[in-house]
Amino acid sequence: MFYQDLHAYIRNTSEEYDVLAKITQHPGRPKPLRVVDQIYMLPGSQLNQAKLVSDYLRGREVVFVGDGDCMSLVTGILGKEKLVDPPAYMRVFDFDERIVKFVRDASQQFGFSDLIEAHYYNVRKPVPKAFFNQSDVFYTNPPYGSKNGGQSGIVFLARCMEFCKSAGSYGVAILPFHHHKAWSRDAMYNIQQFLNQNGYVVSEMLRGMHRYHLDDEPELLSGTVIMDRVKALPPPYRKHIFKKEELRKFYGDSQKEFPDRIDENGIVVAQ
Ligand SMILES: C[S@@+](CC[C@H](N)C(=O)[O-])C[C@H]1O[C@@H](n2cnc3c(N)ncnc32)[C@H](O)[C@@H]1O
Repeated sequence: MFYQDLHAYIRNTSEEYDVLAKITQHPGRPKPLRVVDQIYMLPGSQLNQAKLVSDYLRGREVVFVGDGDCMSLVTGILGKEKLVDPPAYMRVFDFDERIVKFVRDASQQFGFSDLIEAHYYNVRKPVPKAFFNQSDVFYTNPPYGSKNGGQSGIVFLARCMEFCKSAGSYGVAILPFHHHKAWSRDAMYNIQQFLNQNGYVVSEMLRGMHRYHLDDEPELLSGTVIMDRVKALPPPYRKHIFKKEELRKFYGDSQKEFPDRIDENGIVVAQ
């Protein structure tokens, strides 16, 4: 299904948009930093996404790996307002300390802080023991990996595999796929190969679903890929700290050094 068809098919209400905007237009929401590929999703795309994936997240323990879009908070507030069925619990991990703080503050403000926790975490390092193997489902929207054959997505997905339970767990990833763009075909091919080699199959893919605040490429669309863990294989990078050479062009050409974190003032802090 393509973007226009999808928008015609899903009927969103003004009530739903107003609830979404409490998060996405919140005055305390951090400004996206393009240098690390933070490019926020536009509201219609995000509302569609939240409603479509709510079936996969409802009643589950969900881990969000990188959540600049604040899909966790959007899901939480739509659940609180009884517009979707919420997950049982949400854990959010991001290397941007502003996002971690915003998740904590906004969930408190809107009365669902019992449903969510947020932590600083950099995908360069293995998942901390306390969170290994804990979640039923992952949700991630990794950097595009347009200049490294999808390696950025592979690193994120490798960590998602560590966060999740082995048998019967599954994941939801937003991945760019423009079949006429060679970089996106290559990235998708490499990512799906990595998934297969590590016990996952792609069970659903809805492409052309989301648009972004992206001035230089406003027509770039991404899709939702659902993947199921069908074989209990050990996560491939469990003890591995990714090295500089493995993280080349992680954010395209814009960020030369791989960062350790974004601090609370929005400063990119090097390793
Ligand atoms: C590419 S952005 C996702 C795109 C999404 N539209 C957005 O603007 O947030 C990736 C998300 O992961 C986070 N992130 C990027 N690099 C990371 C890293 N090395 N470790 C952990 N989180 C990271 C970013 O802060 C952001 O929330």
